[in-house]
Amino acid sequence: MPRTLAGEKLVIASHNPGKVTEIGALVAPYGIDVVSAGDLGLPEPEETGTTFEANALLKAHASASAADLPALADDSGLCVHALGGDPGIYSARWAGPTKDFAVAMEKVQAALDGKDDRRAHFHCALAIAWPDGHADCFEGTVDGTLVWPPRGGRGFGYDPMFQPDGHDVTFGEMDPDAKHAISHRAEAFKRFVAGCLAA
Ligand code: IMP
Repeated sequence: MPRTLAGEKLVIASHNPGKVTEIGALVAPYGIDVVSAGDLGLPEPEETGTTFEANALLKAHASASAADLPALADDSGLCVHALGGDPGIYSARWAGPTKDFAVAMEKVQAALDGKDDRRAHFHCALAIAWPDGHADCFEGTVDGTLVWPPRGGRGFGYDPMFQPDGHDVTFGEMDPDAKHAISHRAEAFKRFVAGCLAA
């Protein structure tokens, strides 16, 4: 059974202000105040895990023990079936030091050269850890197909080349609310809300 979080301060184990705002809005109706790992000056641990879950747990545990508060972390990425799940946990790293996702998408396309199977999924692991070491992890996935050339200027990362199943637009073309209703992150969040936040 996941542990319930109620009326507590929650650390968002991220240095990305966009993620912190998004998660803060999600938990606000449950009376939970958020503070970011960046604001607390907490160090960013190295992502040494070999799965999304391991990396999310590693980040959540690091912030929970450093801040002495419950902490929430997510880890996500694009898994391409014909590439054995790559770039997977290395999705951000494929964009290089300048975080250029046009380059990362070119790399995926080049790796797929000559392959018929263009199926892929986005995966998100969302972990919450407490200072006493308790932790829970919730995951979400969205399946789709990779298109080329990339389409659409919305979203971020690999969105312009990912067309979710049942849609004829990419995440890069889709209205952000429509993406957020079906995304891997939305699914993991729904599970976190159902498991850890009191109604
Ligand atoms: P991180 O979990 O913040 O390290 O992000 C992992 C990387 O996965 C991001 O930098 C993106 O490249 C990719 N990614 C994760 N979720 C999405 C998404 O919803 N759209 C596009 N790319 C994503």
